[in-house]
Amino acid sequence: MMYIMGIETSCDETACSAVKDGQEILSNIISSQFIHTRYGGVVPELASRAHIKLIVPVIEETLKVAGLNFSDIDGIAVTIGPGLIGALLVGVSIAKSLAYSLKVPLIGVNHLEGHIFANFLTHRDLKPPLISLIASGGHTELVFVEKKCKYRRLGGTLDDACGEAFDKVAKLLGLKYPGGQEIEELAKGGDPQYVKFPRANIAGYNFSYSGLKTSVLYYIEKIGEKKKKEHLKDIAASFQDAACDSLVDKTVRASTELKIDKILVVGGVARNKTLRKKFENSGLKAYFPSMELCSDNAAMIASCGYVHIKMGETSDLSISPSARLPL
Ligand code: KG4
Ligand code: ZN
Repeated sequence: MMYIMGIETSCDETACSAVKDGQEILSNIISSQFIHTRYGGVVPELASRAHIKLIVPVIEETLKVAGLNFSDIDGIAVTIGPGLIGALLVGVSIAKSLAYSLKVPLIGVNHLEGHIFANFLTHRDLKPPLISLIASGGHTELVFVEKKCKYRRLGGTLDDACGEAFDKVAKLLGLKYPGGQEIEELAKGGDPQYVKFPRANIAGYNFSYSGLKTSVLYYIEKIGEKKKKEHLKDIAASFQDAACDSLVDKTVRASTELKIDKILVVGGVARNKTLRKKFENSGLKAYFPSMELCSDNAAMIASCGYVHIKMGETSDLSISPSARLPL
């Protein structure tokens, strides 16, 4: 039996989890920092300060819910990037201290690889080769998963991430941050055909979301405040449709060209029901993590760290986080 504690502080979620043998989640504590709502986006300095305040109580709660003591922990897995450097530093510092004082291995985990493992946690029998679409607030990436822990990046966004586009368009529509869920709720009663927003046609397996965002902005400016209010639902639904189509189209292309039909869709945007429906209708075998594992969490980090530790990989106590760590 092996208990791994995962720690995740790459953005605005302070998260800790205890996972048994890489698969069984004993506790998964996520404290979302609501302070950023006031500013309409994540303020990096405020995120770091909130992580400092929250990380110890979140770790204590993790042990309490799991019914474990520090002495039961066999390894510490922590997100080392990509993410906000000040935010990552908080998690990495406490992870190093814990690993050192408990005399257990430390493993630095790539946040994107963590997202992929969220899907292995939900669908235990999934076996590579697979294609993974990572769509979150910070990333929109297509990755070929040759086997567990072996990846080849196929492409990614050239500008904004898909979740970021949801957040920015939500702001334009007067909705709260984070905007993904807000847009999804608003779009429920709307007509997705109301405005034909562009689906960017970028070469290869790359994505672009800044054009879509700008075209929503221009559209809203053109129709004026009164019509915008009347058709808020339709605009939200039309944007959501365009944003999801781009994700599905590129994934279908990758699937056809690589001849792989098993797709892992991960990251915060994977929560979106329209996206799930479009994948269902695409003919691909698309797998999604459970809702709570789509967004940032530490169970995925613990599960990924477990596999690396089992492979004999551990990190030195001198590791430092990297804001732009590639997969
Ligand atoms: O994976 P995540 O929690 O954090 C990052 O690593 O970025 O993803 C957060 C992003 C936000 O941009 C949020 O608006 C988006 O995921 N999101 C959604 C939905 N729920 C969260 N986007 C579309 N539909 C949703 N239901
Ligand atoms: Zn994430």
